[in-house]
Amino acid sequence: MTSKARIAVAGAGLIGKRHIEMAAKSELAQLSAIVDPSPAAQMIAQQYGVPLYASLEALFRHDRPDGVVLSTPNQMHLAHALECIAAGLPTLVEKPLAHSLEAGIRLCEAAEAARVPILVGHHRRHSAVMAKAVEVIQSGVLGKLVAVVGTVLFYKAENEGYFEGAFSWRREPGGGPILLNMIHEIGNLRTLCGEIVAVQAFTSNATRGFPVEDTASISLRFASGALGTFMLSDTAASDHSWEQTSGEDPRYARAHTDDDDCYHVAGTFGSLSIPTMRLSRYASAADQSWHKPLQKTTIALEAADPLARQIDHFADVIQGRAQPFVSARDGLQNLRVVEAIVEAARSGRVVELAP
Ligand SMILES: NC(=O)c1ccc[n+]([C@@H]2O[C@H](COP(=O)([O-])OP(=O)(O)OC[C@H]3O[C@@H](n4cnc5c(N)ncnc54)[C@H](O)[C@@H]3O)[C@@H](O)[C@H]2O)c1
Repeated sequence: MTSKARIAVAGAGLIGKRHIEMAAKSELAQLSAIVDPSPAAQMIAQQYGVPLYASLEALFRHDRPDGVVLSTPNQMHLAHALECIAAGLPTLVEKPLAHSLEAGIRLCEAAEAARVPILVGHHRRHSAVMAKAVEVIQSGVLGKLVAVVGTVLFYKAENEGYFEGAFSWRREPGGGPILLNMIHEIGNLRTLCGEIVAVQAFTSNATRGFPVEDTASISLRFASGALGTFMLSDTAASDHSWEQTSGEDPRYARAHTDDDDCYHVAGTFGSLSIPTMRLSRYASAADQSWHKPLQKTTIALEAADPLARQIDHFADVIQGRAQPFVSARDGLQNLRVVEAIVEAARSGRVVELAP
Protein backbone atom coordinates (compact mmCIF):
# COMPACT_ATOMS: atom_id res chain seq x y z
CA MET A 1 0.00 0.00 0.00
CA THR A 2 1.24 3.53 -0.82
CA SER A 3 1.90 5.69 2.21
CA LYS A 4 -0.14 8.83 2.72
CA ALA A 5 1.15 12.10 1.23
CA ARG A 6 2.42 14.32 4.07
CA ILE A 7 0.92 17.78 3.57
CA ALA A 8 1.75 21.00 5.40
CA VAL A 9 -0.85 23.80 5.38
CA ALA A 10 0.45 27.39 5.38
CA GLY A 11 -2.16 29.94 6.43
CA ALA A 12 -4.64 28.59 8.99
CA GLY A 13 -7.34 31.19 8.37
CA LEU A 14 -10.85 30.90 7.01
CA ILE A 15 -10.14 28.47 4.17
CA GLY A 16 -6.88 27.08 5.62
CA LYS A 17 -8.85 25.56 8.51
CA ARG A 18 -10.94 23.63 6.00
CA HIS A 19 -7.80 22.34 4.21
CA ILE A 20 -6.41 21.29 7.59
CA GLU A 21 -9.62 19.41 8.37
CA MET A 22 -9.62 17.76 4.91
CA ALA A 23 -5.94 16.74 5.06
CA ALA A 24 -6.43 15.33 8.57
CA LYS A 25 -9.33 13.11 7.55
CA SER A 26 -8.19 12.12 4.05
CA GLU A 27 -7.40 8.48 3.29
CA LEU A 28 -4.69 9.57 0.85
CA ALA A 29 -3.16 12.51 2.73
CA GLN A 30 -1.89 13.22 6.18
CA LEU A 31 -1.53 16.64 7.85
CA SER A 32 2.17 16.99 8.74
CA ALA A 33 2.43 20.61 9.99
CA ILE A 34 0.82 24.03 10.09
CA VAL A 35 2.64 27.22 9.14
CA ASP A 36 1.15 30.47 10.47
CA PRO A 37 2.71 33.28 12.52
CA SER A 38 -0.61 34.14 14.18
CA PRO A 39 -1.02 33.15 17.87
CA ALA A 40 -4.49 31.86 16.97
CA ALA A 41 -2.86 29.01 15.03
CA GLN A 42 -1.43 27.46 18.22
CA MET A 43 -4.78 26.07 19.29
CA ILE A 44 -5.39 24.60 15.85
CA ALA A 45 -1.98 22.88 15.80
CA GLN A 46 -2.65 21.49 19.28
CA GLN A 47 -6.08 20.28 18.26
CA TYR A 48 -4.59 18.32 15.32
CA GLY A 49 -1.43 17.26 17.19
CA VAL A 50 0.96 18.63 14.55
CA PRO A 51 3.94 21.01 14.83
CA LEU A 52 3.41 24.72 14.18
CA TYR A 53 5.97 26.88 12.40
CA ALA A 54 5.94 30.67 12.01
CA SER A 55 7.25 30.58 8.44
CA LEU A 56 7.85 28.21 5.53
CA GLU A 57 11.57 28.73 6.04
CA ALA A 58 11.27 27.43 9.64
CA LEU A 59 9.25 24.45 8.41
CA PHE A 60 11.83 23.53 5.75
CA ARG A 61 14.66 23.79 8.32
CA HIS A 62 13.01 21.10 10.46
CA ASP A 63 11.06 18.90 8.09
CA ARG A 64 10.35 18.11 4.46
CA PRO A 65 6.67 17.53 3.77
CA ASP A 66 5.64 15.88 0.47
CA GLY A 67 3.54 18.91 -0.51
CA VAL A 68 2.32 22.29 0.74
CA VAL A 69 -1.10 23.97 0.70
CA LEU A 70 -0.78 27.77 0.49
CA SER A 71 -3.88 29.39 1.94
CA THR A 72 -2.12 32.63 2.81
CA PRO A 73 -3.32 36.10 1.75
CA ASN A 74 -3.26 36.77 -2.02
CA GLN A 75 -0.31 39.20 -1.89
CA MET A 76 1.86 36.40 -0.39
CA HIS A 77 1.05 33.67 -2.93
CA LEU A 78 3.96 34.49 -5.25
CA ALA A 79 6.68 34.70 -2.57
CA HIS A 80 5.41 31.60 -0.74
CA ALA A 81 5.00 29.60 -3.94
CA LEU A 82 8.55 30.52 -5.00
CA GLU A 83 9.84 29.15 -1.66
CA CYS A 84 7.97 25.88 -2.19
CA ILE A 85 9.12 25.64 -5.81
CA ALA A 86 12.75 26.23 -4.72
CA ALA A 87 12.31 23.36 -2.26
CA GLY A 88 10.96 21.19 -5.11
CA LEU A 89 7.60 20.64 -3.39
CA PRO A 90 4.27 20.22 -5.21
CA THR A 91 2.04 23.08 -4.08
CA LEU A 92 -1.68 23.73 -3.90
CA VAL A 93 -1.99 27.52 -4.25
CA GLU A 94 -5.34 28.97 -3.22
CA LYS A 95 -7.17 31.05 -5.78
CA PRO A 96 -6.42 33.58 -7.15
CA LEU A 97 -3.10 32.18 -8.38
CA ALA A 98 -1.52 35.53 -7.52
CA HIS A 99 -2.52 39.11 -6.72
CA SER A 100 -1.68 40.33 -10.24
CA LEU A 101 -1.20 38.92 -13.73
CA GLU A 102 2.49 39.79 -13.65
CA ALA A 103 2.95 37.86 -10.39
CA GLY A 104 0.94 34.96 -11.80
CA ILE A 105 3.17 34.77 -14.88
CA ARG A 106 6.30 34.73 -12.70
CA LEU A 107 4.83 31.93 -10.63
CA CYS A 108 3.96 29.85 -13.72
CA GLU A 109 7.40 30.34 -15.24
CA ALA A 110 9.23 29.39 -12.03
CA ALA A 111 7.12 26.25 -11.57
CA GLU A 112 7.59 25.19 -15.20
CA ALA A 113 11.36 25.80 -15.10
CA ALA A 114 11.68 23.72 -11.93
CA ARG A 115 9.10 21.13 -13.13
CA VAL A 116 7.21 21.45 -9.86
CA PRO A 117 3.47 20.72 -10.15
CA ILE A 118 1.13 23.50 -9.03
CA LEU A 119 -2.56 22.86 -8.33
CA VAL A 120 -4.69 26.02 -8.05
CA GLY A 121 -7.45 25.97 -5.44
CA HIS A 122 -10.40 26.47 -7.79
CA HIS A 123 -12.09 23.79 -5.74
CA ARG A 124 -15.37 23.81 -7.68
CA ARG A 125 -13.53 21.98 -10.46
CA HIS A 126 -13.63 19.02 -8.06
CA SER A 127 -17.39 19.32 -7.57
CA ALA A 128 -19.47 16.25 -8.44
CA VAL A 129 -22.05 18.63 -9.96
CA MET A 130 -19.47 20.20 -12.24
CA ALA A 131 -18.04 16.81 -13.24
CA LYS A 132 -21.52 15.57 -14.25
CA ALA A 133 -22.41 18.84 -16.04
CA VAL A 134 -19.19 18.66 -18.07
CA GLU A 135 -19.94 15.02 -18.92
CA VAL A 136 -23.45 15.94 -20.12
CA ILE A 137 -22.28 18.90 -22.22
CA GLN A 138 -19.36 17.00 -23.73
CA SER A 139 -21.60 14.05 -24.61
CA GLY A 140 -23.24 16.32 -27.19
CA VAL A 141 -26.84 15.85 -25.97
CA LEU A 142 -27.34 19.64 -25.91
CA GLY A 143 -26.28 19.99 -29.54
CA LYS A 144 -24.10 22.97 -30.43
CA LEU A 145 -23.69 25.35 -27.46
CA VAL A 146 -25.51 28.63 -28.01
CA ALA A 147 -25.79 30.48 -24.71
CA VAL A 148 -25.15 30.40 -20.98
CA VAL A 149 -27.01 32.52 -18.44
CA GLY A 150 -25.58 32.74 -14.94
CA THR A 151 -26.20 34.44 -11.64
CA VAL A 152 -24.17 34.97 -8.52
CA LEU A 153 -26.59 37.00 -6.44
CA PHE A 154 -26.23 36.97 -2.65
CA TYR A 155 -26.03 39.32 0.31
CA LYS A 156 -22.82 40.03 2.26
CA ALA A 157 -23.97 41.42 5.59
CA GLU A 158 -22.55 44.74 6.73
CA ASN A 159 -23.01 43.89 10.43
CA GLU A 160 -20.83 40.75 10.50
CA GLY A 161 -17.47 42.55 10.30
CA TYR A 162 -16.94 41.63 6.63
CA PHE A 163 -16.18 45.22 5.59
CA GLU A 164 -14.74 46.52 8.89
CA GLY A 165 -11.34 47.02 10.58
CA ALA A 166 -8.67 44.75 9.07
CA PHE A 167 -11.16 43.86 6.31
CA SER A 168 -11.97 47.41 5.19
CA TRP A 169 -9.87 46.71 2.03
CA ARG A 170 -13.03 44.95 0.82
CA ARG A 171 -14.61 48.41 0.34
CA GLU A 172 -11.86 49.45 -2.07
CA PRO A 173 -11.26 48.62 -5.77
CA GLY A 174 -9.79 45.11 -5.99
CA GLY A 175 -11.66 43.91 -2.89
CA GLY A 176 -15.07 43.55 -4.50
CA PRO A 177 -17.13 40.67 -5.83
CA ILE A 178 -15.53 40.68 -9.30
CA LEU A 179 -12.09 39.74 -7.98
CA LEU A 180 -13.21 37.76 -4.91
CA ASN A 181 -16.22 35.86 -6.23
CA MET A 182 -16.42 36.09 -10.01
CA ILE A 183 -13.11 34.27 -10.42
CA HIS A 184 -14.83 31.06 -9.24
CA GLU A 185 -17.59 31.56 -11.80
CA ILE A 186 -15.05 32.16 -14.56
CA GLY A 187 -13.36 28.87 -13.65
CA ASN A 188 -16.72 27.11 -13.89
CA LEU A 189 -17.78 28.82 -17.13
CA ARG A 190 -14.50 28.03 -18.89
CA THR A 191 -14.83 24.42 -17.77
CA LEU A 192 -18.43 24.18 -19.00
CA CYS A 193 -18.34 26.24 -22.19
CA GLY A 194 -14.69 26.57 -23.22
CA GLU A 195 -12.38 29.56 -23.52
CA ILE A 196 -13.69 33.11 -23.11
CA VAL A 197 -12.34 35.36 -25.86
CA ALA A 198 -14.05 38.71 -25.19
CA VAL A 199 -15.91 40.48 -22.36
CA GLN A 200 -18.03 43.58 -21.80
CA ALA A 201 -19.24 44.79 -18.43
CA PHE A 202 -21.15 47.40 -16.45
CA THR A 203 -20.48 47.85 -12.74
CA SER A 204 -22.38 49.79 -10.10
CA ASN A 205 -21.72 50.87 -6.52
CA ALA A 206 -25.08 52.61 -6.25
CA THR A 207 -26.36 50.40 -3.42
CA ARG A 208 -23.56 50.27 -0.84
CA GLY A 209 -21.81 53.42 -2.03
CA PHE A 210 -18.32 51.95 -1.40
CA PRO A 211 -15.53 52.82 -3.86
CA VAL A 212 -15.61 49.18 -5.07
CA GLU A 213 -18.44 47.72 -7.17
CA ASP A 214 -21.28 45.89 -5.45
CA THR A 215 -23.01 44.80 -8.64
CA ALA A 216 -21.93 43.92 -12.18
CA SER A 217 -23.53 42.75 -15.39
CA ILE A 218 -21.13 40.89 -17.64
CA SER A 219 -21.31 39.73 -21.26
CA LEU A 220 -19.02 36.99 -22.49
CA ARG A 221 -18.05 35.63 -25.90
CA PHE A 222 -16.66 32.08 -26.02
CA ALA A 223 -14.18 30.77 -28.60
CA SER A 224 -16.92 28.46 -29.95
CA GLY A 225 -19.08 31.48 -30.81
CA ALA A 226 -21.48 30.84 -27.89
CA LEU A 227 -22.42 33.89 -25.82
CA GLY A 228 -22.95 34.29 -22.10
CA THR A 229 -24.47 36.77 -19.72
CA PHE A 230 -23.84 36.92 -16.01
CA MET A 231 -25.34 38.96 -13.16
CA LEU A 232 -23.22 39.42 -10.05
CA SER A 233 -24.14 41.24 -6.85
CA ASP A 234 -23.10 40.93 -3.22
CA THR A 235 -25.91 43.17 -2.06
CA ALA A 236 -28.89 41.29 -3.49
CA ALA A 237 -31.37 39.50 -1.23
CA SER A 238 -31.18 36.39 -3.37
CA ASP A 239 -29.78 32.89 -3.06
CA HIS A 240 -29.13 32.36 -6.77
CA SER A 241 -25.44 31.70 -6.26
CA TRP A 242 -23.37 28.54 -6.68
CA GLU A 243 -22.82 28.01 -2.97
CA GLN A 244 -26.45 28.53 -2.02
CA THR A 245 -27.96 26.43 -4.79
CA SER A 246 -25.37 23.61 -4.71
CA GLY A 247 -25.25 23.41 -0.91
CA GLU A 248 -21.64 22.19 -1.19
CA ASP A 249 -20.29 24.51 1.50
CA PRO A 250 -22.11 24.28 4.83
CA ARG A 251 -21.05 27.84 5.75
CA TYR A 252 -23.68 29.27 3.40
CA ALA A 253 -27.46 29.08 3.78
CA ARG A 254 -28.95 26.67 1.29
CA ALA A 255 -31.54 27.95 -1.17
CA HIS A 256 -35.00 27.03 0.06
CA THR A 257 -36.13 24.88 -2.79
CA ASP A 258 -34.52 22.20 -4.88
CA ASP A 259 -35.47 23.93 -8.10
CA ASP A 260 -33.22 26.99 -7.79
CA ASP A 261 -30.34 27.11 -10.25
CA CYS A 262 -27.43 29.43 -10.88
CA TYR A 263 -26.53 28.46 -14.46
CA HIS A 264 -28.57 27.58 -17.54
CA VAL A 265 -26.56 26.22 -20.47
CA ALA A 266 -28.44 26.07 -23.77
CA GLY A 267 -27.54 24.27 -26.96
CA THR A 268 -29.41 23.80 -30.24
CA PHE A 269 -31.00 20.52 -29.11
CA GLY A 270 -31.29 20.79 -25.34
CA SER A 271 -30.48 22.78 -22.25
CA LEU A 272 -29.14 22.00 -18.79
CA SER A 273 -29.91 23.82 -15.54
CA ILE A 274 -27.14 23.66 -12.94
CA PRO A 275 -26.89 22.54 -10.13
CA THR A 276 -30.34 20.91 -10.21
CA MET A 277 -29.20 19.03 -13.35
CA ARG A 278 -32.59 19.38 -15.00
CA LEU A 279 -32.15 18.49 -18.64
CA SER A 280 -34.60 19.64 -21.32
CA ARG A 281 -34.33 18.01 -24.77
CA TYR A 282 -36.28 17.64 -27.93
CA ALA A 283 -37.49 14.08 -28.50
CA SER A 284 -36.11 14.01 -32.05
CA ALA A 285 -34.74 16.24 -34.77
CA ALA A 286 -38.27 16.46 -36.21
CA ASP A 287 -39.46 17.98 -32.90
CA GLN A 288 -36.81 20.69 -32.81
CA SER A 289 -39.16 23.69 -32.72
CA TRP A 290 -40.57 26.16 -30.21
CA HIS A 291 -43.99 24.78 -31.16
CA LYS A 292 -43.04 21.38 -29.67
CA PRO A 293 -42.50 20.60 -25.98
CA LEU A 294 -39.07 19.77 -24.61
CA GLN A 295 -38.76 16.51 -22.70
CA LYS A 296 -37.62 16.98 -19.10
CA THR A 297 -35.43 14.69 -17.02
CA THR A 298 -33.28 15.18 -13.93
CA ILE A 299 -29.82 13.63 -13.94
CA ALA A 300 -28.94 11.82 -10.73
CA LEU A 301 -25.89 12.88 -8.74
CA GLU A 302 -24.00 11.65 -5.73
CA ALA A 303 -23.06 14.58 -3.48
CA ALA A 304 -19.39 14.98 -2.55
CA ASP A 305 -17.41 17.69 -0.79
CA PRO A 306 -15.19 19.34 -3.44
CA LEU A 307 -12.58 20.35 -0.85
CA ALA A 308 -12.22 16.71 0.24
CA ARG A 309 -11.90 15.60 -3.38
CA GLN A 310 -9.39 18.41 -4.02
CA ILE A 311 -7.07 17.29 -1.21
CA ASP A 312 -7.25 13.66 -2.41
CA HIS A 313 -6.42 14.85 -5.93
CA PHE A 314 -3.50 16.86 -4.51
CA ALA A 315 -2.21 13.66 -2.86
CA ASP A 316 -2.45 11.98 -6.28
CA VAL A 317 -0.51 14.88 -7.85
CA ILE A 318 2.17 14.69 -5.14
CA GLN A 319 2.59 10.95 -5.58
CA GLY A 320 2.70 11.19 -9.38
CA ARG A 321 -0.67 9.50 -10.07
CA ALA A 322 -2.24 12.61 -11.63
CA GLN A 323 -1.47 15.88 -13.33
CA PRO A 324 -3.01 18.98 -11.67
CA PHE A 325 -6.66 19.21 -12.64
CA VAL A 326 -6.38 23.04 -12.39
CA SER A 327 -2.87 23.95 -13.50
CA ALA A 328 -1.04 27.22 -12.82
CA ARG A 329 -1.71 28.24 -16.47
CA ASP A 330 -5.40 27.53 -15.97
CA GLY A 331 -5.47 29.63 -12.79
CA LEU A 332 -3.63 32.38 -14.66
CA GLN A 333 -6.25 32.40 -17.43
CA ASN A 334 -9.05 32.77 -14.83
CA LEU A 335 -7.18 35.77 -13.43
CA ARG A 336 -6.75 37.19 -16.94
CA VAL A 337 -10.50 37.00 -17.65
CA VAL A 338 -11.35 38.64 -14.34
CA GLU A 339 -8.90 41.47 -15.01
CA ALA A 340 -10.45 41.87 -18.47
CA ILE A 341 -13.89 42.28 -16.84
CA VAL A 342 -12.51 45.00 -14.56
CA GLU A 343 -10.92 46.74 -17.55
CA ALA A 344 -14.08 46.42 -19.67
CA ALA A 345 -16.17 48.04 -16.93
CA ARG A 346 -13.60 50.80 -16.38
CA SER A 347 -13.17 51.66 -20.06
CA GLY A 348 -16.67 50.92 -21.34
CA ARG A 349 -15.06 48.92 -24.16
CA VAL A 350 -15.01 45.31 -25.33
CA VAL A 351 -11.86 43.62 -24.05
CA GLU A 352 -10.54 40.79 -26.21
CA LEU A 353 -8.56 37.90 -24.70
CA ALA A 354 -6.07 35.57 -26.27
CA PRO A 355 -6.71 32.02 -24.96
N1 LIG B 1 -11.35 28.41 -2.45
C1 LIG B 1 -12.14 29.21 -1.77
O1 LIG B 1 -13.36 29.08 -1.79
C2 LIG B 1 -11.55 30.27 -0.92
C3 LIG B 1 -12.32 30.80 0.13
C4 LIG B 1 -11.72 31.79 0.93
C5 LIG B 1 -10.44 32.22 0.67
N2 LIG B 1 -9.74 31.69 -0.37
C6 LIG B 1 -8.37 32.15 -0.65
O2 LIG B 1 -7.53 31.63 0.39
C7 LIG B 1 -6.54 32.57 0.75
C8 LIG B 1 -6.69 32.91 2.24
O3 LIG B 1 -7.94 33.51 2.44
P1 LIG B 1 -8.67 33.49 3.87
O4 LIG B 1 -10.01 34.09 3.65
O5 LIG B 1 -8.56 32.11 4.47
O6 LIG B 1 -7.76 34.52 4.66
P2 LIG B 1 -7.53 34.65 6.23
O7 LIG B 1 -7.12 36.06 6.45
O8 LIG B 1 -8.73 34.13 6.98
O9 LIG B 1 -6.32 33.64 6.52
C9 LIG B 1 -4.99 33.88 6.10
C10 LIG B 1 -4.06 33.22 7.11
O10 LIG B 1 -2.72 33.34 6.65
C11 LIG B 1 -1.91 33.59 7.80
N3 LIG B 1 -0.62 34.17 7.41
C12 LIG B 1 -0.30 35.47 7.26
N4 LIG B 1 1.00 35.59 6.93
C13 LIG B 1 1.50 34.33 6.85
C14 LIG B 1 2.79 33.81 6.56
N5 LIG B 1 3.83 34.59 6.24
N6 LIG B 1 2.93 32.46 6.57
C15 LIG B 1 1.90 31.65 6.88
N7 LIG B 1 0.67 32.10 7.19
C16 LIG B 1 0.47 33.43 7.16
C17 LIG B 1 -2.76 34.51 8.65
O11 LIG B 1 -2.31 34.54 10.01
C18 LIG B 1 -4.13 33.86 8.51
O12 LIG B 1 -4.35 32.86 9.49
C19 LIG B 1 -6.74 33.77 -0.17
O13 LIG B 1 -5.91 33.62 -1.28
C20 LIG B 1 -8.19 33.65 -0.60
O14 LIG B 1 -8.46 34.24 -1.87
C21 LIG B 1 -10.27 30.72 -1.15
